[in-house]
Amino acid sequence: MMVSGKARIAGVMGWPVKHSRSPRLHGWWLEEHGIDGAYIPLPVRPEDFEAAVRALPKLGFAGANVTVPHKEAALRACDEVSDLAGRIGAVNTLVCRDDGTLYGDNTDGFGFLENLRAGCRGWQADAGPAVVLGAGGAARAVVAALHDAGCPEVRLSNRTRARAEDLANGLGGAVTVVDWDSRAEALDGAGLLVNTTTLGMEGAPPLDMPLDPLPRGALVTDIVYAPLVTDLLARAEARGNPVVDGLGMLLHQGRPGFEAWFGVFPEVTDDLRQFVLGEPAA
Ligand code: ATR
Repeated sequence: MMVSGKARIAGVMGWPVKHSRSPRLHGWWLEEHGIDGAYIPLPVRPEDFEAAVRALPKLGFAGANVTVPHKEAALRACDEVSDLAGRIGAVNTLVCRDDGTLYGDNTDGFGFLENLRAGCRGWQADAGPAVVLGAGGAARAVVAALHDAGCPEVRLSNRTRARAEDLANGLGGAVTVVDWDSRAEALDGAGLLVNTTTLGMEGAPPLDMPLDPLPRGALVTDIVYAPLVTDLLARAEARGNPVVDGLGMLLHQGRPGFEAWFGVFPEVTDDLRQFVLGEPAA
């Protein structure tokens, strides 16, 4: 893809960043829409993050995505952040404004909800209680999104209970903290089960989660997408539950940033999914 002297530039800041699929994602959309622009990996060490992020407007960047481990530091580095990013305590999307200031938003929750809406026709957040496993950064975005979308109750369970309590206290809303040992009981009457832990990821231990009390109509989703079909999703599907894999969350979270930087709100298609999956993990 050729870029001109007028090309708009964005990228993804992370450390390491070589595993990121975002350059492939945004590169697809740039090509699809014939946009004079580029989206590049930006490997930035934690100790260099603040200087690097402050340099983005000076270098003429349209903005950037921020990934592990910089999302909390990005929040602190911004001149202004969205209410949502402030509540979550993390920024994943930076926009360089014309006056040289940096605006930060968090689109992980948008990606999470859009993935469920696209993957399970008719799904609505207000259909019933949601069980969320984990209390890291991804869980914060998921719980905030569910709450804002009208989910009546989130039952939150994490191995380290204190982290779940911090999350519940910080975000407000109807969040019930459940002991990790009682996580299966929390499935009773639930409309949604979400794994936000790293369990089930390639190289990590499997998620030990008995599904017996879960209603058959409840949607099951995993933010782990390598493998695409985790043991949790396979077991849920085998007992008849609708399931949505985690790849779409990554794809959908990129859409608002792309629009802010390049002026087009892009779509997520099957061809795009296959293309992004086609990248062998480094
Ligand atoms: P992120 O911020 O990207 O979501 P994280 O903060 O490392 O990542 O969170 C990983 C999640 O997986 C946490 O909820 C973690 O539980 P703890 O808070 O108790 O650490 C969970 N997790 C990781 N390994 C686990 C294990 N072996 N058993 C249960 N939960 C685990």
